[in-house]
Amino acid sequence: MTPDVRVHADVEALSQRAAAAAVEVIDRAIRTAGRCSIALSGGSTPRTLYRLLASEFSDSVPWRSVHLFWGDERYVPPDHVDSNYRMAKETLLDHVPCPAANVHPMPTQWPSPDAAARDYERTLRDYFASDWPRFDLALLGMGEDGHTASLFPGSPALRERTGWVAAVEAPAAPPRRLTLTLPVLIRSVTTYVLVAGSSKAPVLRQVLGGTVEANTYPAAGLLSSEGTLIWWLDQDATRDAL
Ligand code: 6PG
Repeated sequence: MTPDVRVHADVEALSQRAAAAAVEVIDRAIRTAGRCSIALSGGSTPRTLYRLLASEFSDSVPWRSVHLFWGDERYVPPDHVDSNYRMAKETLLDHVPCPAANVHPMPTQWPSPDAAARDYERTLRDYFASDWPRFDLALLGMGEDGHTASLFPGSPALRERTGWVAAVEAPAAPPRRLTLTLPVLIRSVTTYVLVAGSSKAPVLRQVLGGTVEANTYPAAGLLSSEGTLIWWLDQDATRDAL
């Protein structure tokens, strides 16, 4: 199937369109099930989207019915400069009336990341109460090496078929991380992958070409998504890519 690709001039433009589309996804989930689950990512690209959701789009979101989770987290305290929770807090959480009880960060206070991964899986099982979680909206990015969430090329976590959350050693700083697994990510009702910058173009071209394996470029695993998968790209990322 041809990937659903939306190309916009720059991060600001793609974030505007992604925010408007996200508001509709959230609205649909709440009308259907009374609540909406969103998995947030880290990295720099989603900052603009979070800022928009916290400002001009904020009044269009029934925040009291929104539950926020994380697709991955660096194993650092929540106030650490590398924390994905901290990034989302500063750009989004601090500015919207989402109840604290609806915010579900990945825990990083356990003695081992493995214990933390098991704890987060329990959190997800409590919320979703079903065989697999199905996030209404998973917001993801892609690194220059093709990683998505904290699933890096060649990672044993890519072979996970039953676990929902994995503790991984990333070939990037900080190395200790938690991540949702591919079987969880592909079950999301809607997935947005935000990719910007010319440094991503060579890998993006191969990922969207559909001929590489997830073990090589983990973002390629998202092509097996069972829901709606949209790639929100800026022009630089699509240089020679489409
Ligand atoms: C993380 C991420 C990661 C990110 C990509 C893209 O915690 O590092 O969740 O998967 O989305 O590295 O990051 P940029 O948007 O900064 O390029």
